[in-house]
Amino acid sequence: MKFTLNGGTRQARDGQTVLDAARAAGVDIPAACAHEALEPYGACRLCIVEVRERGKKRWRVVTSCLYPVAEGLEVRCDTRKIRKLRAFLLELLLARSPNAPYVKELAARYGVSKTRFSRLDDDCILCGLCVRACAEVVGANAIGFSRRGIGRKVDSPYGIDHSKCIACGVCTFVCPTGAVQMEYARVMELRAQGGEHLCRYTLMGFLPDAVCSLNYECARCEIDQKYRAEAGTHPLVARALALKSGVTGKGAPRKKASRGRKPAASRAKRSSGRRRG
Ligand code: SF4
Ligand code: SF4
Ligand code: FES
Repeated sequence: MKFTLNGGTRQARDGQTVLDAARAAGVDIPAACAHEALEPYGACRLCIVEVRERGKKRWRVVTSCLYPVAEGLEVRCDTRKIRKLRAFLLELLLARSPNAPYVKELAARYGVSKTRFSRLDDDCILCGLCVRACAEVVGANAIGFSRRGIGRKVDSPYGIDHSKCIACGVCTFVCPTGAVQMEYARVMELRAQGGEHLCRYTLMGFLPDAVCSLNYECARCEIDQKYRAEAGTHPLVARALALKSGVTGKGAPRKKASRGRKPAASRAKRSSGRRRG
């Protein structure tokens, strides 16, 4: 279908969001809570654009990661209004996470270097990438948001229960600021428990029952190097992307409906009975 982007006519696929279509056309839109392997979420609002539907007079501000392209839609990504609103959002983000390099770089890219709001000094920008990746890509649901308002944070159940975590590291991989430390916490916990543990690539559904012989020092393990090198990204993210694009192959679960969830989640459950500590 045809739509207009910053005055030029473009093509978009059926069901494509404005953000995806704009990116495919090489137009830069900041999007802190979007990831190609995950469903859109609409938390950061940075991806705002102005749109006007065919036959309508009014321009509206919408989040481009959630807004689907329609035939004849007009989109403006870089108007004065959008720049002003985005700068305001970046100021808020800068106040929340003033020390996070990701936030500083993002703000600087859009001309924001200081904030008039009080600092919170929390590196977590509440983008939800880690929580959604753990649920959608891993199927573990080991972390979620707890508390409300200013105290909102990413945590494991009751703040102490790490048992659902398979130490796959997907949350750490997708986190833009490095705020989430679940993989590290779980690995430390398993090491402290001692005994034999299933390899995390078994828990992720890539390997049949392999036992870790390196006490979870994955950086020294050739299995870890192999899967990372082959995938060119986190292997579970690669698998999720392949499933999204309809490509199946090595490492991909057999049924599309499972989207990689069942292997990881069910193996983690079984493994808790196998771990000896
Ligand atoms: S390391 Fe644990 S919390 Fe993080 S995505 Fe994997 S299972 Fe979820
Ligand atoms: S820990 Fe990282 S990925 Fe998770 S919500 Fe915070 S900034 Fe986003
Ligand atoms: S990327 Fe659209 S709201 Fe965050």
